[in-house]
Amino acid sequence: FEQKTNYSPSEPPTVSYYVPFIGSMIEFGINPIKFIRKNQKIHGNFFTFLMFGRRMTVCVDIDGNDFVFNAKHSCVTAEDAYNSLTKPVFGEGVVYDVPNSVLMEQKRMVKAGLSIENFRAYIPIFIQEVNQYIDKHWTESEGTVDLLQSISEMIIMTASHTLLGPEIRSKLHEGVADLYHTLDSCFTPIHFLFEWLPLPSYYSSGKAHDELDRIFGTVIAERRKHTGEKHIDMLDALMESRYKNGEPLSDKHVGNMLIALLMAGQHTSAATTTWALLNLAANPDVVNEARAENEAKFGRKLGAKSFPEPSYEDVKDFVVLDNVVRETLRIRSPLIELMRKVVKPVAIPNTNYVIPAGNYIIASPIISSTDEKYYKAAEDWVPSRWNTAEKEDSMDKATTDYGFGATTTSARSPTLPFGAGRHRCIGEQFAYVQIKTILYVLLNRFDFSLDPKRGMPERNYQSMVVLPEGPVLCRYKRRAD
Ligand code: HEM
Repeated sequence: FEQKTNYSPSEPPTVSYYVPFIGSMIEFGINPIKFIRKNQKIHGNFFTFLMFGRRMTVCVDIDGNDFVFNAKHSCVTAEDAYNSLTKPVFGEGVVYDVPNSVLMEQKRMVKAGLSIENFRAYIPIFIQEVNQYIDKHWTESEGTVDLLQSISEMIIMTASHTLLGPEIRSKLHEGVADLYHTLDSCFTPIHFLFEWLPLPSYYSSGKAHDELDRIFGTVIAERRKHTGEKHIDMLDALMESRYKNGEPLSDKHVGNMLIALLMAGQHTSAATTTWALLNLAANPDVVNEARAENEAKFGRKLGAKSFPEPSYEDVKDFVVLDNVVRETLRIRSPLIELMRKVVKPVAIPNTNYVIPAGNYIIASPIISSTDEKYYKAAEDWVPSRWNTAEKEDSMDKATTDYGFGATTTSARSPTLPFGAGRHRCIGEQFAYVQIKTILYVLLNRFDFSLDPKRGMPERNYQSMVVLPEGPVLCRYKRRAD
């Protein structure tokens, strides 16, 4: 028999389910996008499903995104939804382990490490790291690689070097990378669903966290001894930052914040870069366009060895690559479920619905960004569609105020891969500069094609960040110098 449960007439409709308690967990877990689209057709933009005893209210399309991202903090919070998942990884005193007003100040501190001056210093480091990786690992004139694995390593090296600084970067191969992986193992849906279970991963991640604290602590203490030396990286920016009341971030919180930033950017940027390259591999005409644009900009032919180091302005002006990243994020947003917990009943504007306290609400902006209502051939990867469309200048936002606590970017755009409102991503510009620079180097050095047997991978929904299903095989061929 099928259970139908509507708790109160003013609540959004509940998706029917067969097994009490478990509810729709399995169908949702297998393919959340399919599940949401199917129920959107039946119930509209707001509906609730049961998942392991939790009531999850899905809010989709432009109205749904706007409702979740701009809900009043007194009624709806991210910290109540995320902290049990993030605290074992990030540690205490940062992000969701502090009141929202403190997070807003911490985001302001991070912004200091994401200035244009910093980006200018980061670009040569990105190039150096990618070249170094390729020279070491892609040594044949042609071959097949696990692209997700290679790109993930490039992301961890470029991000560690620019955010955590050269000292910690140099320790990556001395076990620091393994410590990150151990922490990462706590970032799974199981840890969200079974937060009360004493999973062994909590123990190992606690130990990994202590060890990272110790390593970061030594580096910070060393830097404090040489106060005259200026480093252009996130570590310096955070060490120098102050709360409004004049208090600095403690050294421990500096370290925890760095871990949080690294984790926020790792899989999201690795997935985006990998999907972008896979799509480029399948669309050589777009690769040619990107190369032609770069050659016109630098006024000469570019090859595997002879490509100039672009300035920040050059990277910003790589229009084809910008469209490539934007289009990849539209159809392959790595974060497809953004959650909040309702702490006080909240009414959904322009409806008769009220969501009771205790429910979770979920935004899934990928539903609107792949909706035919807003984009023709919405599932197809067509970077040139952004030539004419109105787009926010993602890299220019580096100079603008993020307007913490208020709505920053309109939550009414159908494409919101970085969220909106008070919890909007502050790593967007960093991600664009990092991904575009990596793509620039790789496209100068290699031609890519999909592995004929694997083709374009499916999406894997088993992790918190949606990744291409592995092994993500891709062929590379070295270009002429
Ligand atoms: C928040 C996506 C890269 C740091 C977010 C949110 C999204 C997102 C959707 C909103 C979360 C929510 O509303 O619950 C992405 C994507 C990235 C990326 C798609 C890469 C392609 C980065 C990087 C960093 C970063 C590189 C750090 C350098 C943050 C931070 C927040 C955030 C600090 C704020 C969390 C909050 O206020 O609750 N990101 N992100 N992200 N992201 Fe990113």
